[in-house]
Formats: sequence, C-alpha cells, structure tokens
Amino acid sequence: MSHYPALRLRRTRASSWSRRMHAETVLTPADLIWPLFVTDGNREEPIGSLPGVSRWSVADVAKRAKEAAGLGIPCVALFPNTPAQLRTDDGREALNPDNLMCRAIRAIKDAAPGIGVLTDVALDPYTAHGHDGLVDAGGYVLNDTTAAILAQQALVQAEAGADIVAPSDMMDGRVGMIRQALEGAGHFNVQIMTYAAKYASAFYGPFRDAVGSRGLLKGDKKTYQMDPANAEEAMREVALDLAEGADSVMVKPGLPYLDIISRVKREFEVPVFAYQVSGEYAMIEAAAAAGAGERDALVMETLMAFKRAGCTGVLTYHAPLAAKLLRA
Ligand code: PBG
Repeated sequence: MSHYPALRLRRTRASSWSRRMHAETVLTPADLIWPLFVTDGNREEPIGSLPGVSRWSVADVAKRAKEAAGLGIPCVALFPNTPAQLRTDDGREALNPDNLMCRAIRAIKDAAPGIGVLTDVALDPYTAHGHDGLVDAGGYVLNDTTAAILAQQALVQAEAGADIVAPSDMMDGRVGMIRQALEGAGHFNVQIMTYAAKYASAFYGPFRDAVGSRGLLKGDKKTYQMDPANAEEAMREVALDLAEGADSVMVKPGLPYLDIISRVKREFEVPVFAYQVSGEYAMIEAAAAAGAGERDALVMETLMAFKRAGCTGVLTYHAPLAAKLLRA
C-alpha cells in the first residue's frame, strides 16, 4: 500500500470531469417518488407547516402526476385528506370504492397512464381518533381486526388501479393478509412496498397537518411504530414482511435512519426505499429560509446520501425540484 506523496487522493478530485468520472453513486429522476396530498375541495390548499407543498383537488392531482411523468419521475404516492364528516371510529370510508383516494387513482390513470401510482394503506386519514387502526375501549390499537380491514382497503385501491400498495400502519401480519387478498382477486402484479421499519418519530408533524389527523390524534403511536433505539428489531420486521410477500421494503424516516437502510441492503439484498418525511422536508426549507444553507444543494446532498446508503429510491416532497435540477 503506497502512501503520500505517491498517493494523493486529491488528484482525482482536482477537476470537474474527473470528479464526475469517479463518482461512485448516481442520482436520476427515476430514483424519485413524489408524495401528493388530495383534498375534496376544488382549489389548491397550501399546507402551512410544509411550505411549498399543497393539497390538490382530484383534477389537479392528475395534473401534478402528468407533470411528474414529464420530469421523468416514475411514480407518485397518494395521501387523502378525508372530509371531517366522513371520519369515523372504524374508518369505514377507507373501504368506499368511491373515496377520495380511489377517485384520485382513476383520475391519474386517465391523465398519465404511464406513471406508477403508489397508495397508502392505513386508517389514519379515515379515523376520528387519528390512529392507523381500530382502537379498543382502553385505547389500544387492535392488530388482527385492523390487519383484516387493511387487506380489504388494499383490495379496494387495487380495483381502482393502484400499482403499488404501501401499508404504513405497522400491524403484525398485514403484508401476508394483503398479499392473500390481492392474489385471491387476481391482482397478481400489484406490488406491495411495505413500510417495514417505520419508527415512532417526531418528524411526522407536518404530514399529520396535511392529512388532517394531527388535531384528532389521541396519544402517540408507540405501541405499533418502532422505538428509535432499535436496529435488530428492524431486521426482524424486514425479514417477516419479505416472507409474507412484500416486493420492496421501506425505512422511515430517512436521514436519521441511514444506518438501518444500509444494514437492510447489506443483509437482505432487496429493493430498499426511504421516506424523507415531512419533518425532514420542513427542516431543509427552514434552513434555506433562515439563510443557513442553500436549498438546491441541501436537497441534492441528502438525496445522494440515500443512494450512497443503498436506496433503490426515495419518497420526497422535493421530487419535482430534484428532477428539474437533474435535468438542467
Ligand atoms: C400514517 C403515515 C404517516 C406518514 C405516512 N403515513 C404519519 C404517521 O405515522 O403518523 C408520515 C409521512 C411524512 O411525515 O411525510 N399512516
């Protein structure tokens, strides 16, 4: 092994062409999934805690999907803000084949048939208490009854045209139940991207504003989402979801959990996605607004970090900005 001055690692960094030639990781628009919020209203609703992000009507969300396709973004992720009067303790609106989610799926399939549509499987946008599942008298979120409903919810979304169903609820056994429901109904090619390692995080606040569950949520989600202290447990979650029929796995939040992403990639060699969540987006926007950093550079550096850690792709609210920067 030679060393200085025979070896100078700065040599390959000395010019732009050489840095490009030696880059170990590349980021392209195909690495991006754009999360979109849908409202029953008919105009754009900006979200205060997510500056630059809005809820869109069904017609407008289809326009955003078309825009995404034009930017080379392969897939959009949908989250509904269910009207307050349709939220119930059992979240039954989740199973309505004409709910906001299903109408948005159909509108996008109409307007931009070439783009992938990923749907959220969980009850929190539909429940009056803001939890991802049914709650018993003591406030405990019930696993098995919830998982059975989630399987039906996934089926309703698949019938509406969803390409990827993404359970974000963290109930045990739900991936297997969803897979069985999809196979049983002939949806052989509908993918499951499971939120396999989803942590009980303080970074979800703005998202809960966006789907309207923040003020409703009773307590926290620590009895189902993971403890940020744990990594071994994340490997067990991933192993189970893969065994139950997941096509790809997700780690969430993103940047604070790069160690988990990298470990999942190394141990399982399967497609791993990260969700750069709302609080992460808001932090970058706040830093840019405060003059503490430059938005474009912060965004591109964080997205590259996900790729370097082993991600196949990233869900990010900055997807259209990043895609534009990558095309420039
Ligand atoms: C809930 C869900 C959450 C997010 C996606 N699905 C929040 C939560 O678990 O309370 C967070 C996404 C984000 O913060 O951007 N099913």
